[in-house]
Amino acid sequence: MSVSDFARRLIEAETLAGKLEPPPRRLTCDENVTAIRLTAPGRPDNLTILAARQVKVPPPVGMADPAQRVRILHALANHELQAAELFAWALLAFPDAPGPFRRGLVAILADEQRHCRLYIECLAALGARFGDYPVTGHFWNKIAGLTTPLQFVCTMGLTFENANLDFAKEYARAAQDAGDERTATALDQVHADEIRHVRFAWRWLNQLSNPLEGAWDTYLASVRWPLGPARARGKQFDRTSRRAAGLADDFIRKLEATAPKRPGGAPR
Ligand SMILES: [Fe+2]
Ligand SMILES: [Fe+2]
Repeated sequence: MSVSDFARRLIEAETLAGKLEPPPRRLTCDENVTAIRLTAPGRPDNLTILAARQVKVPPPVGMADPAQRVRILHALANHELQAAELFAWALLAFPDAPGPFRRGLVAILADEQRHCRLYIECLAALGARFGDYPVTGHFWNKIAGLTTPLQFVCTMGLTFENANLDFAKEYARAAQDAGDERTATALDQVHADEIRHVRFAWRWLNQLSNPLEGAWDTYLASVRWPLGPARARGKQFDRTSRRAAGLADDFIRKLEATAPKRPGGAPR
């Protein structure tokens, strides 16, 4: 199977099992394929993407209450599912990107599938199933701003995954405080992998851009409003994880100096 056949099958799958089937060991490289920009994923009926206003997700303090915790875990599982779909989407959209970049996308895609399964297991331990609550298309809503591999790494890696360095940590702490070891461990695992994912994005920001422009300005020019540094961090800024991801000190400083905002634009 070719990389693009696999990516397309994942995005168009209408079963969860189809979405979460890991990439086969031997995927063949694509040759002379044209770019495909799919506009929406296939989904099982119970995971159909709805408008954000139809979906309410409790804040991290909700972790203390198992009824709210399942809704948080449900939203996190959906983030992971969308991440897997979007990495597959990028494989179809950027067939001419360098081989190591595309191989990195496949590896991260597999991590995102694994993260989704981890959260599904946490949900099951609490008696819930993925598909029990409505889900949004938070990441899918941003594909119009992803016209190049550079924009893709700045949006997915250096905005959403970068912010998750703070969110996953905050949720892990809240799960720990609530005595839910399984959920805390899953979040810690996601956090550790997210450092590698941000490192991938940082590496490719530097490879795909003009070094004279500077990483910060390149980042600002590569994300579409309302995304940007205010959305690339949470309330509690985890500097250590950014260092571990290899971000330059100057970039970290500027990010730390930016006030975090919620998706709706309100301060965090
Ligand atoms: Fe993930
Ligand atoms: Fe990730």
